[in-house]
Amino acid sequence: MASIPHLHSLDPVPVRRRLLTWFRRNARALPWRDTRDSYAIWISEVMLQQTQVVTVSPYFERFLQRFPSLAHLAHADEQTVLRLWEGLGYYRRARDLWRSARQLVRDNHATIPDDPAYLGTLPGFGRYTTNAVLSQAYDRSLPILEANSARVLCRLFALAENPKEAATRNQLWRLAESLVPTRLAGAFNQAMMELGALVCTPTGPNCSACPLSRHCLAHLQDRQHEIPMRVKSPRIIAIEEVAVVVRKRGKLLIVQRPDQGRWAKMWEFPHHALEDGESTKAAGLRLLQGLGIEGDVADEFAAIRHSVTRFRITMTCLDVAHRRGVVRAGLHANAAWVRPADLHAYPLSAPQRRLAKRVLAEGW
Ligand code: ADE
Repeated sequence: MASIPHLHSLDPVPVRRRLLTWFRRNARALPWRDTRDSYAIWISEVMLQQTQVVTVSPYFERFLQRFPSLAHLAHADEQTVLRLWEGLGYYRRARDLWRSARQLVRDNHATIPDDPAYLGTLPGFGRYTTNAVLSQAYDRSLPILEANSARVLCRLFALAENPKEAATRNQLWRLAESLVPTRLAGAFNQAMMELGALVCTPTGPNCSACPLSRHCLAHLQDRQHEIPMRVKSPRIIAIEEVAVVVRKRGKLLIVQRPDQGRWAKMWEFPHHALEDGESTKAAGLRLLQGLGIEGDVADEFAAIRHSVTRFRITMTCLDVAHRRGVVRAGLHANAAWVRPADLHAYPLSAPQRRLAKRVLAEGW
């Protein structure tokens, strides 16, 4: 423990007691908080990674209605799971969820078992997910670390190092381990996250409402605004794209992305980035050429703006009437001509769904 300089200055007993009392009084009523069903907790924890509570809640309820048990999820098809996940982003999570459900059912499990070593072999079960699910469902005394709890720990122990660095993260895991109680570990873990979300917020920590302020080294040193260290975000890069909405006898062309990479297996209107100095129309024609078809390019009818990590993408959308040629899927897994009214059945990324809505609004 020599590598944790502050540990001995903090008595975990009153910290646990005060935090749990605060949580009982202040926890938001969230749909996954009144269950001990390990399957439901698993779904919530996967959805909550990288995504805010307010966004997750309706998705969680819809998902459980559609797939109320592990067996339901395991027997679903992947495209239906992706469709239900649509808008949450980070679709890898949904594919891992589905693959893990199938593996669990193949291994004769009816729900998520209380077995950290076995869970560690399944896709998507890192240390965070395993510990979050097992502490909440089975009250296993296992620590968690995610963005909110990491911020609380940095302040509590006045850790001024970069929390994104591996050495600091290891230290934070050890601190989380030192605090997690033997009983009520699930409530304690959720309380740490809740405190980070509601009180110990990134820029305006409300120390006067914090149950831990008298124990918090950052607060006692009045350094809560400089801890945790703020890491500079990478430079923003603008990207211009063109998308084509190709029409043929009332149907529209969509293509399916390959099995690997971003948005794997999801569908989209063909699109790509403009080359240096290229006009939107020229980029659209190049896109059609790649697909092996010819068409009459009419006006730009929409510009969809969205962000992916540090990229700010503007996708200009062209209305194209198919003239001749059979689509060559090329880099895509599949291509399909679909009626606009059937687009709802295909999983699309968020910007592509916005484009689909524009297309429907045009009445095509
Ligand atoms: N973030 C991750 N897991 C959470 C949970 N169970 N409650 C609130 N926020 C969370």
